[in-house]
Amino acid sequence: MRKPFIAGNWKMFKNIKEAKEFSEKFLKLYVPSDVQVAICAPYTQLSTLVESFKGTAIKVGAQNMHYEESGAFTGEISANMLKEIGVDYCIIGHSERRQYFAETDETVNKKLKKAFEYNILPILCVGEKLEERDAGKEFDVVKAQVIKALDRIPEASIEKLTIAYEPVWAIGTGRNATPEQANEMCGFIRSVIAELYSQETADKVIIQYGGSVKPSNITELMNMYEIDGALVGGASLNPTDFIEIVNF
Ligand code: 13P
Repeated sequence: MRKPFIAGNWKMFKNIKEAKEFSEKFLKLYVPSDVQVAICAPYTQLSTLVESFKGTAIKVGAQNMHYEESGAFTGEISANMLKEIGVDYCIIGHSERRQYFAETDETVNKKLKKAFEYNILPILCVGEKLEERDAGKEFDVVKAQVIKALDRIPEASIEKLTIAYEPVWAIGTGRNATPEQANEMCGFIRSVIAELYSQETADKVIIQYGGSVKPSNITELMNMYEIDGALVGGASLNPTDFIEIVNF
């Protein structure tokens, strides 16, 4: 059985003081359960959250990393730097990075390889744009993203992979994909993994849905067979909203 996994993506929100306030409130509400929980925060809040969540099952993730070990890459952070401060997860290839920071399927692939090397658990984001869905190309687009992202990544690593299906048109728009649309694509992604590797491995991959997930729609999404969790943006900033999502 796949363990449900709810991750928050804070994007570029909250300072250290606000991160501490969040974790204090969240820990008062949080009851350990079968659901894996992680918060993916800006770099400067990571150590604070690692410290706050020490001794709990709540994990901390980054939102990006570089694919090289070290070097003259001004402004970048490497996998070993994340590992050193106790970060467990890293979002890779979020659509905002693809859109605003020239992230490509090739850099996504290199980052995934480096993350696995350092035992950082990657959350690979894929998803089509509105015009691609309107043109009926959503399955082709997502399939190509998955194949290129996983190029020459060994099967043994795939079991540790989380994939987040985030249709770009549903991010921050309040317009979530219907549970049926999300379930269909998550199932399709699993079938692509089965084609690339094996059904056994595909059955182990956690596939999340992301895009306007809220307390009001999480239950119907999580009731879908292929959806194992959620990557939550806006609603993860508020501890009471986020705990409701975690306790779907
Ligand atoms: P929202 O939940 O704010 O739509 O953001 C989704 C997202 O991009 C999570 O990575």
